[in-house]
Amino acid sequence: MKKISLLGSTGSIGVNTLDVVERNPESFQVLAMSAGSNVDLFAEQIRKFKPKIASLFDTTKVATLKERVADLDVEIVPVEEGAVATLPEVDVVVSGVVGSAGLVPAMQALKAGKNLALANKETLVIAGELVLKEAEKTNSQIIPIDSEHSAIFQALNGEKKERIKKIILTASGGPFRTYSLEQMESITVKDALKHPNWDMGAKITIDSSTMMNKGLEYIEAKWLFGLDTPVEIIVHAQSIIHSMIEFVDTSIMAQLGLPDMRVPIAYALTYPDRFECDLPSLDLATMGDLTFEAPDFERFPCLQLAIDALETGQTMPAILNAANEVAVQAFLDELIPYKDIAEIIRMVMHNHRPSPLNDLQDVLNADQWAREETTKLITVTH
Ligand SMILES: NC(=O)c1ccc[n+]([C@@H]2O[C@H](COP(=O)([O-])OP(=O)(O)OC[C@H]3O[C@@H](n4cnc5c(N)ncnc54)[C@H](OP(=O)(O)O)[C@@H]3O)[C@@H](O)[C@H]2O)c1
Repeated sequence: MKKISLLGSTGSIGVNTLDVVERNPESFQVLAMSAGSNVDLFAEQIRKFKPKIASLFDTTKVATLKERVADLDVEIVPVEEGAVATLPEVDVVVSGVVGSAGLVPAMQALKAGKNLALANKETLVIAGELVLKEAEKTNSQIIPIDSEHSAIFQALNGEKKERIKKIILTASGGPFRTYSLEQMESITVKDALKHPNWDMGAKITIDSSTMMNKGLEYIEAKWLFGLDTPVEIIVHAQSIIHSMIEFVDTSIMAQLGLPDMRVPIAYALTYPDRFECDLPSLDLATMGDLTFEAPDFERFPCLQLAIDALETGQTMPAILNAANEVAVQAFLDELIPYKDIAEIIRMVMHNHRPSPLNDLQDVLNADQWAREETTKLITVTH
């Protein structure tokens, strides 16, 4: 029985993780859960999965949560205590939190020696070096949940990292893959929230449409599989091949499957083993064509911004990430047009003077600076 702590249980990754747990009650038990502000769903989940402890980030709703679960044997603990990420009897912490809010609990989990099943890519994007150092110190393992990184992780099984020639990171291309620059001028929130293959939270869905998601994944892949490893991004509209590795002998290993996050979540929970999953299989005979094309950096400038941010290093990836989070939220709130997302991030990066990241506080300061700078720019220019 694997004992799990789930951060961000009310989100898309959280709900999929609980689905995997529910299908395998003899293998998994959820001992701790956290959520942001969706008190209704969180109370329901607590009732069903009966964790020992739970935390809600939105302090204005904690009293309501306590009332809703008063008849249950669960302790509602303040988020800042970090108890959900560090509960002693937990084997693996799943992070399905969205955005840079995932960094602190991920670091707490690693510090406590927990294995980390990581969906929250922002953790590695903004603080890759510090996160890896912490994992090394406590001998904790980081197992990626992001489907592309899970594919690479699986393709690397039994292989040596030094034998990788390049990582081939696949991208669906999002809903605007075939849009012209002119068509991109009038994209609405509704258009951008319609991902062709994946059903995900709002922020990552917008990131997929701008291809910032692939940029963040590029940074995530570099931290997970080696900063010196070349990463090629290739658009594969069907999202069947989740990513590949080309080895030094030119042999390519790929991982395929239907776009269903429960597969990489289950793998992260069972690794290095696998278990039988009662999920639909890929039907190769009816699947149709698999297509591949190079990404278009002109129509999707966020991709280059992310690559540049990693190249600059130090605080810059944290700046890129925070500026993106604020700009995406402003787009979702209909404060800025779609095409301004990339432009605003570019301006914030331009205005930033990178500095070294010595500790967690440096990351949090950079994140805060970029949020304020982005908000200021949006206010002045819109
Ligand atoms: N969805 C996918 O298929 C997918 C695939 C690959 C990678 N990822 C990555 O996984 C992460 C989660 O994505 P998602 O699509 O599941 O997002 P989502 O549906 O928006 O869910 C985010 C979760 O984080 C919680 N949360 C938000 N702010 C929080 C805070 N300050 N403290 C604690 N919890 C907080 C939310 O709680 P409330 O809802 O209660 O406010 C929710 O449970 C992202 O980093 C994303 O890039 C997602």
